Amino acid sequence: MSYLIGIDSSTTATKALLIDERGEIVAVAASEYDFQTPHPLWSEQDPALWWKGTVASIRRVLADSGIDPAAVVGVGLTGQMHGLVLLDAAGEVLRPSILWNDQRTASQCDEICARIGKSELVRITGNDALTGFTAPKILWVQENEPEIFARIAKILLPKDYVRYKLTGDFATDRADAGGTLLVELATRDWSPAVVEALGIRPEWLPATHEGTQITGVLSAAAAAATGLKAGTPMVGGGGDQAAGAVGVGAVEEGIVALSLGTSGVVFASAASPIYEPEGRLHAFPHSLPGKWHLMGVMLSAAGSLRWYRDTLAPGLAYDDLLAPAGAIPPGSDGLLFLPYLTGERTPHPDPLARGAFVGLTVRHSQPHLTRAVLEGVAFGLRDSFELMAEAGLPAIRQVRVSGGGARSPLWRQILADVLGSELVTVNTTEGAAYGAALLAGVGAGLWPDGETACRETVRVTGSTKPDPDAVAVYERAYGVYRELYPALKGTFEKLSMGDSE
Ligand code: XUL
Repeated sequence: MSYLIGIDSSTTATKALLIDERGEIVAVAASEYDFQTPHPLWSEQDPALWWKGTVASIRRVLADSGIDPAAVVGVGLTGQMHGLVLLDAAGEVLRPSILWNDQRTASQCDEICARIGKSELVRITGNDALTGFTAPKILWVQENEPEIFARIAKILLPKDYVRYKLTGDFATDRADAGGTLLVELATRDWSPAVVEALGIRPEWLPATHEGTQITGVLSAAAAAATGLKAGTPMVGGGGDQAAGAVGVGAVEEGIVALSLGTSGVVFASAASPIYEPEGRLHAFPHSLPGKWHLMGVMLSAAGSLRWYRDTLAPGLAYDDLLAPAGAIPPGSDGLLFLPYLTGERTPHPDPLARGAFVGLTVRHSQPHLTRAVLEGVAFGLRDSFELMAEAGLPAIRQVRVSGGGARSPLWRQILADVLGSELVTVNTTEGAAYGAALLAGVGAGLWPDGETACRETVRVTGSTKPDPDAVAVYERAYGVYRELYPALKGTFEKLSMGDSE
C-alpha cells in the first residue's frame, strides 16, 4: 500500500492528513497556534509556527498510523493564501508574515492602481488590488520598513516557506501565486510588467509549478526532523481555496464549491482565463494544469450566524436556534438582513460596509430574525454567482457545499432556493489538506490527473433540490436585497467616521 500526506498551514493550525492510495483517511493531526494583531487592522504570524506545526503533525500521523515512512510516495502542500514571507540572503525570516486578513494596505492598493491603471491591472492579472493580496504588503514594507526591504532576497507564500524548510527549494504553485497579484492570468506565471512596475526584483520570486508537479524532494535535515524518508517527493499543491476545491471535486466547469465557514467562498472552475472586468471576483489559475477559477469571498457567512447566536441567543445550540426558523415562510415576511458584519470583499470590496436588519415590524419574532440571517447570507453568496454568470462562466450544474454552516438542512434548503440550483454534500470533509494529498497523488503518479483523482475518491452523499415556489419568492426578495448596499453605503461611511484606527 502507498500513502500520501497533505499539509495545510492555516491561520489557526497546521494539519497533516495521511491517506492511502484509495483516498481513505488513515490519520490526521493538527498543531494549533495564534496570530498577532500588534496594531488595529494588522494581522501577523511567525513562520516558525508553521514549520513547528508541520514537524509535530507529520510525526503524529506517522506514529498514530504506524506505517513505514518509506511508503509515503508524495507530500502535497496547502495553506492560507496571500501571506507575505520575506527571507534574507541566508534564508532567515526578516519579519513576521503579514497575513491575508491584514487590512493595513489601503493606500498601497491605491498606489498600485495609480502606477499600473486599474483596468490594465485587471486585464493582466484578472484582479483588482485588494488589501488581502500579497503585492500591496510588499509596497507597505518598502515604505514603512526600508531597512527590511533592503535585505530581501526571497519572497514566499506561507505554505512555500514550509516547502523551503522541507526541501531547501524556493518554489510555489501557480494557483497560490495568483493570489499575490503579480501573476499574468493567461500565462499562469509572474507578470514582468506588474513585477517591474512595483519595483520587485524578479530573482526574489520563487519558481512556479503546476499544483500537480513535483517541485523537489525532502532534504536529509527535514527527514531527520519529520521522520519521513529523505528523497520523498514534494508536490506543488495550492492555496487553501484551490486545494479545498480539489478536495470536494470542483475541478470541472459547471461544478462549484461553496464553503460555508466563518467566511463564505464560492469557487468555480473555469476552462479558460476568464475574469470579471471590474475585478469584483478573484480570478486565479486553478491547481490543475490548463484550468483557472473564479472566486467570490463573503467575509461573514457562518460568522454572521455565530455573531447573531452569541449576541441574541447566547448559549443556545444551533439546532435549537434554527428549528423555529424553519416554520417561518421564505422571505421572512418582508425582513432582510445584510451580512457585512466585518466589511465585505465580494461583491463590494468595502471595509466600511456594515450589517443591517431592514424591514422590521412588530409582527416579526425572533425566528423571523434567525431566518433573515440565513437568507441574507444566501443572498450575499448569490451575488458571487451573478457576477460569475456576467463574467461569462458557463451554466452551473451542481454546487458542492461544505463547512460548518452546511450541516444545517434548513440553511442548505434556503441556499438551494436562493441560488436556484441543486446543492450536494460529498464524502470528503477534510478540506484543503485532502485536496493537497490528492494533488500529491497525481504528482507521484498514483492517478494520471486531478480529474481522475477526484472521480475515484469524491462521492456525492446527499442532495437538496430547489423548491420552485420558494425560488419565486426569493427571486423577488433578492431584487430588493440588491438595492440595500447602494442605498446604505453613504450611511455606513458616516457611521464609520470617528472609528478609531
Ligand atoms: C482567500 C483567502 C482566504 C485565506 C484563508 O482569498 O484570503 O481563504 O486563504 O486561509
